[in-house]
Amino acid sequence: MLKAIILVGGPMKGTRFRPLSLELPKPLFPVAGFPIIYHHIEACSKVPDLREILIIGFYQPNDALTKFIMQAQLEFQIQIRYLQEYTALGTAGGLYHFRDQILTGNPEMFFVMNADVCGDFPLLDMLKFHRERGPGAYGTILGTEATRQQSLTYGCMFENKDTHEVLHYAEKPETFVSTTINCGIYLFTPHIFKTLEVTFKKNLEDNYNFCDINSRVPGFDFLTPSKEVIRLEQDIFIPMAGSGKLFVYTTCRFWSQIKSAGAAVYANRHYLAIYRDTHPERLAKNSEGSPKIIGDVFIHPTATVHPTAVLGPNVTIGRGVTVGEGVRVRETIILEGATLQPHCCILHSIVGWHSTVGVWSRVEGTPNDPNPNKPFAKLEIPEMFSDDGKLNPSITVIGSNVQVPSEVIILNSIVLPHKDLNGCYKNQIIL
Ligand code: GTP
Repeated sequence: MLKAIILVGGPMKGTRFRPLSLELPKPLFPVAGFPIIYHHIEACSKVPDLREILIIGFYQPNDALTKFIMQAQLEFQIQIRYLQEYTALGTAGGLYHFRDQILTGNPEMFFVMNADVCGDFPLLDMLKFHRERGPGAYGTILGTEATRQQSLTYGCMFENKDTHEVLHYAEKPETFVSTTINCGIYLFTPHIFKTLEVTFKKNLEDNYNFCDINSRVPGFDFLTPSKEVIRLEQDIFIPMAGSGKLFVYTTCRFWSQIKSAGAAVYANRHYLAIYRDTHPERLAKNSEGSPKIIGDVFIHPTATVHPTAVLGPNVTIGRGVTVGEGVRVRETIILEGATLQPHCCILHSIVGWHSTVGVWSRVEGTPNDPNPNKPFAKLEIPEMFSDDGKLNPSITVIGSNVQVPSEVIILNSIVLPHKDLNGCYKNQIIL
């Protein structure tokens, strides 16, 4: 029997996803018509004998998460549970804390998936690869190739090319280590808990020895919760590398981080492309009396789209959205309940829940797509502001319940929720 754990973080995470993460936990943000972690769960549902998915995070349980879990359980017929950390325990602290729940039912192995990545996850291939390594293998990391320069912003692995053992692991190194980077998708055997236990106890010891006896307040537990923090990358992989227990399975299938709103638009494009093989029924088709569709487009069945609208490529139209006459949309996500009034044009943007874009208005952003001339280039995640304090061009994000008036241009801007705009804006954050 197998299990999967999805690490969703909590409210202090996903800051580069604001203002969209102010409305909804980032793991539930819809990409290609479905929440980010729906795609993880769907990938897990294709692994035979994967019986349970544990979502671990430090969000307070909330209606959106509960509803999502109930629906996903029904749809995929897999048990899914949310386990809440009492504080941020790091990328491995929650695994250790909830070890009894993870080990219930004696799973042979379990996947661990970061929620903030997207991809065509090769879980079955990882499983086969890991089994071939024999019983001494405790963990397999999914790796992919990056450019030399971009590798410095990821976890980097130097491997034995014959055995694929990870010989050296470095998290966001200052100098070049390897172009094989960590995708945030792992497969572990229960043996990993031995390593977690050793690290957990060592952290406690270190903290105990470090703690000044005078700082202990009677009746107050000086071993504060943060002492339980374990970071999978730094605390586990770095010491495990070279021990013969950690391996890397490298994929050349689509993979990206989803740190920013721009990355969500990028992920949207790729998940739509994957639908061509996996779910052609989810993609809109051209037909008499319906809007013109260019490339890959997802339209929620409850959306109303005028037949003269032109959509695509790479567009998602959410639940209950209204798209008026002559509207043009490309490379964009339109979220639930939004209204696009006649003849507006939306390019490289996200339009928030229940927002309205007025007639003949133009909402446009600038993508930070990977350089097509550089093999293995990943999405660029530029700094939000330039050295002179200006907002760097990126996709335009319209927060929820925003009114964009008629005949204005909103370019490379971020609009916070509940704004009534009254003119044109360029390269601005509208607070
Ligand atoms: P940054 O570039 O600094 O964001 O680092 P990173 O890419 O290594 O990401 P990070 O380690 O912050 O998070 C990786 C994944 O683990 C994300 O899906 C997070 O939501 C999740 N995560 C991070 N910290 C925690 C934590 O304390 N608890 C849980 N349950 N999940 C976490």
